[in-house]
Amino acid sequence: MSLIADRISALGSENAFKLGDNIAECQAMGLDVIKFNLGEPDFDTARHICKSAAENLYQGNTHYCPPHGIPSFRKAIAKQVSESRGIEIDPDLVCVTTGAKPPISYSVQTYVNPGDEVIYPSPGFPIYESWIRFMGGKPVPLHLEESKSFSFAADDLAPLITPRTKLIFINSPSNPTGGVLGKVDLEEIAQLILDKGHPDLRIYSDEVYEEIVFDGLDHVSIASMPGMLERTILVSGHSKSFAMTGWRLGYAILPTAEEHAVFKNLNINSISCTPPFIQEAGREAYENPMTQKIIDAMVAEFQIRRDYAVPALNAIDGITCANTRGAFYVFPNIEGVCHNLGVIDAYNDLAEEIKSVSSPSKLMQMFMLYKYGVATMDRKSFGEIGTDDKHFLRLSTATDLESIKRGIERISEAVADQDGFTAFISAGEHLK
Ligand SMILES: Cc1ncc(COP(=O)(O)O)c(C=O)c1O
Repeated sequence: MSLIADRISALGSENAFKLGDNIAECQAMGLDVIKFNLGEPDFDTARHICKSAAENLYQGNTHYCPPHGIPSFRKAIAKQVSESRGIEIDPDLVCVTTGAKPPISYSVQTYVNPGDEVIYPSPGFPIYESWIRFMGGKPVPLHLEESKSFSFAADDLAPLITPRTKLIFINSPSNPTGGVLGKVDLEEIAQLILDKGHPDLRIYSDEVYEEIVFDGLDHVSIASMPGMLERTILVSGHSKSFAMTGWRLGYAILPTAEEHAVFKNLNINSISCTPPFIQEAGREAYENPMTQKIIDAMVAEFQIRRDYAVPALNAIDGITCANTRGAFYVFPNIEGVCHNLGVIDAYNDLAEEIKSVSSPSKLMQMFMLYKYGVATMDRKSFGEIGTDDKHFLRLSTATDLESIKRGIERISEAVADQDGFTAFISAGEHLK
């Protein structure tokens, strides 16, 4: 008998949370680390939202509340989603959760039997692949291409849909690529799903970056396409749009009362409820007109940073970087760097037990962190299956412009530092 149950070995993780230990180690060694790893806005939550939570706390709004969310907040969510997507949302189909992450596991648990196929974007948010594997689903990665700015069309999805496809994850705007799905592509994807998908196939639309779109674009949801509301689990939350990551506030909108009841029961079984004073603050975020101005200023700043980072990365020998249209990430291709510095050969020469948990882009990630004080994230942090020959890094632009400039300067030095890279590999530390 073993202490830890066998199933746990199938559970993946989110390296963004794990990298903190490496960064702390570098800082303890005296390195000034520029953090391109952060998956959260570097802005504080607006004061009026904080004030609402504080007032609710002082008024004693500190008890258990309905497991699927307080009625006033569910109504506010339904109103915001209805108005922004041009659809009619029933507040009784809204299930409030502690962040936009729980609905991922809830959906895989609710819909996927062992062997059922689940399509998900790769590169994509790592928790999709983690839960699909954990629940015994068959992971079917939809590989997104740099040449298409990490968007995809119905033609790319069509070959992956089979009669066993049970769930399709989509995420626009995307973590980690900043890719955005446009209306025409979404219309065609929706039509494809209607034509080719099993009637019980569900689409999981992760819209947690809905407010963070650039160049005057509007966020479009697949749930707005004809026939899709009845098939879509629409998920979003306050973490990114309202700079509220630590509050843990999100929601899922389910297609039917039956599915909503399952999500409600999953809440009962895991968290009981989302704190009511947090939900009241979430309602204030929607209803106070000051919020939109604060979001607009934040998004404008993210766009300025994107406008700097993408050309600056493209100017580095060995790096290409697709332009992004949303979220606060850029996803440069470092294949040229891997060839220039001999990273792929160095990786191939590693012992098997290190190779199995590392990759060429991981070696670059660690080299740049430990030798240049630049924290980035490797390709495999965003989907492992079928990615051995893909060499990318994710940089978050949720850090001030000055730091972005200094960080990219350091990257340009690191990718030209052949002696430093050779010495790093020879030292044999931090290779995974
Ligand atoms: C695509 C995506 N979905 C969901 C989440 C989880 O969001 P939350 O912090 O609200 O749980 C994240 C967080 O990084 C994300 O990037």
